[in-house]
Amino acid sequence: MTGTFDISIQKIAKSKVSEYDVNNVPFGKCFSDHMFVAEYSDGKWQKAYIMPYQNVPMSYAISSLHYGQAIFEGMKAYKNEKGEVSLFRPTENFKRLNKSAIRMAMPEVPEEIFMGGLFELLRLDSAWVPTSETGSLYIRPFLISTDEAIGVKASDTYKFIIITCPAGKYYSEPIKVLVETNYIRAVKGGIGFVKAAGNYGRSLYPTKLAQQKGYQQVIWTDSETHQYVEESGTMNLMFVIGDTVVTPGLGDTILAGITRDSVLTLARDWGMRVEERKISIIELIEAHEKGLLREAFGCGTAATIAQIVGIGYNGKDYPLPPVEERKFSTKVDEVLRNIRKGKAEDKFKWMMKVD
Ligand code: PLP
Ligand code: COI
Repeated sequence: MTGTFDISIQKIAKSKVSEYDVNNVPFGKCFSDHMFVAEYSDGKWQKAYIMPYQNVPMSYAISSLHYGQAIFEGMKAYKNEKGEVSLFRPTENFKRLNKSAIRMAMPEVPEEIFMGGLFELLRLDSAWVPTSETGSLYIRPFLISTDEAIGVKASDTYKFIIITCPAGKYYSEPIKVLVETNYIRAVKGGIGFVKAAGNYGRSLYPTKLAQQKGYQQVIWTDSETHQYVEESGTMNLMFVIGDTVVTPGLGDTILAGITRDSVLTLARDWGMRVEERKISIIELIEAHEKGLLREAFGCGTAATIAQIVGIGYNGKDYPLPPVEERKFSTKVDEVLRNIRKGKAEDKFKWMMKVD
């Protein structure tokens, strides 16, 4: 797919890909050769270009740095055995970016710029897409306000940028999570349902406290009662209670994850009972006590399927069944990986090939 928006391309003199083992790099620290940039000013998108990945000079007064008019997406490209590169559900990321843009009073990015830039970038940097079983190229599209002005107002100028980095596993091991009943991630009427930078900044301190207690992540609860679970870190939450897949229903405090939707679609396709609804901590503890809480996991683009092996709540740890016994999440993890790597039928037409 190519956009009709003219994209000028300045190629790197010599690719840096041979300096890395792309199948074995830490998450998010090694960036591919090129980046895509589109600039917005005077009420419209002005120009789009690809250039070698680099630091760019910007004023320290730009409004995104001060007031957080900054949003992003996270998506992945995969390479199959023939060396072909495909994206997983990129249109969903495109739509979600613009949902975030609207909520943060930012201009929407036209599809031809988002998709055109993405595909052009991937064509240039296809050598950076890992070939390993669990590897992928993590893609980070983001939109930032760039007005050099200290007054608090929606910026008049913006940059939409895409950078990419080879990625392996985000969590190397199954995780232990702590139910957070003091701090909150999102409130009704807030920005929890969009991918705004501020959602992540505010999560770091409570997460640090949980990590000091030996947990990798927190489970956020609703801001009003702290009784219902919402999300964990950068993941949506899934439980298997008895034979039913249960996940918190969406609202304005939860990000509508694309992985979440994919997991639910597969579960329904396999004839499983799926419930999207409020889940209280008490319900989870009772199910655990009766031996009915069979599986718990987080799902997201970076994290893929992250098994939760223990939940801490109110000073007590609730160990969950061994990962080897978890039929649904093991199957869903494998099937998603196979669809992405072109090894299983793509029944829902999730993959988009970069040709
Ligand atoms: N929830 C939050 C807060 C996230 O940051 C993410 C990651 O993108 C998700 C859920 C999962 O969303 P997706 O599956 O679209 O990556
Ligand atoms: C993603 O899963 O894409 C995320 O956004 C997580 C990220 C913040 C590392």
